[in-house]
Amino acid sequence: MTEQALKALLDSMTLEEKAGQLVQCNAGMFIANELAITGPDGEPLPAEELCRVMGSVLTFEDAEQAKALQDMHLASDPKQIPLLLMLDVIHGLRTTYPIPLAMGCSFDDDLMTECADMARRESSACGVHVTFNPMVDTARDARWGRILETNSEEPLLNSRMGAALVRATQGDDLSNPENVACCVKHFAAYGAGEAGRDYNGVELSERSLMQDYLPAYKACLDAGARLIMPSFNSLNGVPSVANKKLMIDLLRKEWGFEGIVISDYNAVGELVNHGIAADMKDAARLAMEAECDIDMVQCAYYQHLADLVRERTVSEATVDAAVMRVLKLKNELGLFEHPYHGADEEKEREVYLCAEHREIARRAAEESAVLLKNEGILPFRKDVKRIALIGPFAEETRLNGFWSRPGAERYTVTLPEGIRNLLPDAELNIVRGCGANFEDTETAGIAEAVRVAAGADVVILAVGEPEDYSGEGRSRAELSLPGPQMQLIREVTAANRNTAVLLFNGRPLVLTELTETVPAILEMWYPGTEAGNAAARLLWGEANPCGKLSAGLPRSVGQYPMPYNRMNTGRPKPLPDDRAVPFSSCYLDMPNLPLYSFGYGLSYTSFTYESLITSERTLKENGEIQVTITVQNTGNTAGKETVQLYMRDPVASVVRPVQQLIDYRKISLRPGERAEVVFTVREEQLRFYNMEGREVSERGEIRLSTGYADHLILTESIEII
Ligand code: BGC
Repeated sequence: MTEQALKALLDSMTLEEKAGQLVQCNAGMFIANELAITGPDGEPLPAEELCRVMGSVLTFEDAEQAKALQDMHLASDPKQIPLLLMLDVIHGLRTTYPIPLAMGCSFDDDLMTECADMARRESSACGVHVTFNPMVDTARDARWGRILETNSEEPLLNSRMGAALVRATQGDDLSNPENVACCVKHFAAYGAGEAGRDYNGVELSERSLMQDYLPAYKACLDAGARLIMPSFNSLNGVPSVANKKLMIDLLRKEWGFEGIVISDYNAVGELVNHGIAADMKDAARLAMEAECDIDMVQCAYYQHLADLVRERTVSEATVDAAVMRVLKLKNELGLFEHPYHGADEEKEREVYLCAEHREIARRAAEESAVLLKNEGILPFRKDVKRIALIGPFAEETRLNGFWSRPGAERYTVTLPEGIRNLLPDAELNIVRGCGANFEDTETAGIAEAVRVAAGADVVILAVGEPEDYSGEGRSRAELSLPGPQMQLIREVTAANRNTAVLLFNGRPLVLTELTETVPAILEMWYPGTEAGNAAARLLWGEANPCGKLSAGLPRSVGQYPMPYNRMNTGRPKPLPDDRAVPFSSCYLDMPNLPLYSFGYGLSYTSFTYESLITSERTLKENGEIQVTITVQNTGNTAGKETVQLYMRDPVASVVRPVQQLIDYRKISLRPGERAEVVFTVREEQLRFYNMEGREVSERGEIRLSTGYADHLILTESIEII
């Protein structure tokens, strides 16, 4: 459709029809009649009526449903405006790849691209027009259960991974039925909820907001994301969906965003609970005034928007602009001509869980696992006779993470399957030992686990956090392994030191005691469909661990928030062994540093960092220099290493972080091989927000280092002139 035709369509629409375009319903109410919607008088609204006028739907199952929904709607809509179908495809649709936090550990933008590409193929076949992805909330507190949905605590890593996902999902042309539009979320600073509690208010300085939280959303919009979702939380007192400073001044005016703003689930209605709207009508007004285009779920806009315009409380021009944005996206997706877009049952059968997708998912699971500890016992020898597989996750199928699609566990390759695929002749004894839920106290099974462990050549302890303990609304105050798992671990390891722990979890856990107890720990996160194959290949060295932590692991929950890019204080630093100095910013009862820092991860080979050389000693405004880091694989196995580049600005007009990642690159090295990794460092990468809120760099020394957080090496200084 031409722009003119779209305009004519808009002009022909009634106020109710316009409001309908700005309403999103849950497909459940049409498909299973699951949700009762009530009108202003408390009477249930007829689903047919809503179906006729509504503009978009979220959460449906497959191509068949997608087509049925579109048919149902078009059969009754006199204007023949197709529905937009949206779904949370967060880390794969049918083929599930690792949770985003794990993907961050791969430090591999290309791998992210491959994974997003496969999710795009499956989603488009399913009939998805818009995915509520990527989620790029900076998260610095693992009590928050949604940390699993983000790639990292690190803004640069979040930005690059998020942008890669957007580019791969949307492609160059949204009218191509294989492409899907992206909705970046949750704008803004949803991850900074006080005390790590989901949906909680956020109090954040302007500088931290700009430096640590906003860049990733911006990077995704710059990569072309067509939609954005304001977050549930209040930011410095104002819920995002009604936050004009955020939504209009920053997003629309400063960033020039022309796409769609869609509220989070009933976030418009929640303005009443927040206590900034008197009722639903007031909530609709506030959200519309902040230019929130679509009300996800039907409470506020559907019932009140038309009246608000008739009463002249909300201007029709504001509504028209919002409707136009929705029509434009529908047009860009080609829905007026092809309302099913890519929905195709045959294509679904072809691409879901196909060999190519499984291979990508397996590789992603391998590359995002982090080897935290290894006292020389891994990789296991392939000629082992007796393997003991112990723990509550030994035969678990729910290894996909909170946002995997319903039923994902049916397709999980379990650990026993993965081990048998690799070592069909070994004897495999499986004992659960104990449970992993908070309420599990039963320890009677541990004796059997100890007996089996004692008679085995190698022991795999599969432990972690149940899949539904992280995700939306899943905050925890303690980050220990739930249930009697530590007791199981202690007793099994005492019976056989040839024990490696496989960890399955959706957030950084406190592993202080675990680390002291066992000789080897492999953090698997929730690896997805290919869990068992990836784990077995890593344990037996078919794959070499190369993940680096995308968020540090604390020694204790009391250390949160614990950003790796923390600010200097005016007080003396801890002693070199991290012991407290009196009257310093230290804990009396434990070191300041995390147990495992951001960027940390071991390999079965060793890498030696030989040199860091800068091409120039000075850098001018808008100039650039090259930083060359030479790394050698000094072990006996081929491996991958993520070379990380950090900066430190020792003297500036405001306090700067003690370390800030400014670039990274993952390389592959054969035994003995050496690589020169050349980073281009632009002056603008070294900028920060000064007291006036302007982004500047200042004259003087900048230190550049490699290594990983809290363990920086090979520091060289340059000078900004
Ligand atoms: C979540 C969003 C999600 C939406 C739709 C909300 O509860 O916060 O991340 O996209 O539901 O499922």
